[in-house]
Amino acid sequence: MAVRPIVKYGDPVLREISQPVTEVNQEIKSLVSDMKDTLNHAQGLGLAAVQVGVVKRIFIVDLSAIDINATLKVFINPEILETRGQIELEEGCLSFPGIYQSCTRPAWVKVRALDLDGRPFEMEAEGMTARAILHEYDHLEGKLFIDYISPIARTLLRGRLKKLAAAS
Ligand code: NI
Repeated sequence: MAVRPIVKYGDPVLREISQPVTEVNQEIKSLVSDMKDTLNHAQGLGLAAVQVGVVKRIFIVDLSAIDINATLKVFINPEILETRGQIELEEGCLSFPGIYQSCTRPAWVKVRALDLDGRPFEMEAEGMTARAILHEYDHLEGKLFIDYISPIARTLLRGRLKKLAAAS
C-alpha cells in the first residue's frame, strides 16, 4: 500500500502506448492497490497506470465522490467495443493539476476488460462514468484531453501548459 507520484504533463511517458498485461499476478495486484491509494490521495475520478509511470494497459475509475452509488472499478486490458452519441463536458486530469477544459466525446460507451481476478467483464456506461472511461482509455493510447480542445482554448492555455511542462 503506497501513494505513488503522479506523472505530470511534459513527461514523455504520457505519450507512450501502454503494453497489454500478460497475467494478472501479484505484481499487477499490488500496482493496482497503489493506484487506488494514489487516486484516493489525489481525490481524482480516474487514474491510468502510465500516470504512475507504468506503461501497462490498466486504469481505475472511481466516481464515488460525485455518485453515491458508484464503486471503484478496475479495467485491465480494456477494449472499447462501441460508442454512441456525443456530449460536451468539462474534464480535468491528475497529470494537469488545476486545468479544466470542455471536451466533446461519445455520450455512451460499451467496454470489455479483465477485472482484478483476471476475469473478463463487459460494462455499459453513460454520463460521467462514460467520460471517465474514455478519458482513461485514451491514456493507454498516449492521448491526452488537451488533444480534443479547440485551437483557441489551447492558445489560451499555452502559458500554463508550458509552466507545467517546465516543472515536470
Ligand atoms: Ni487523465
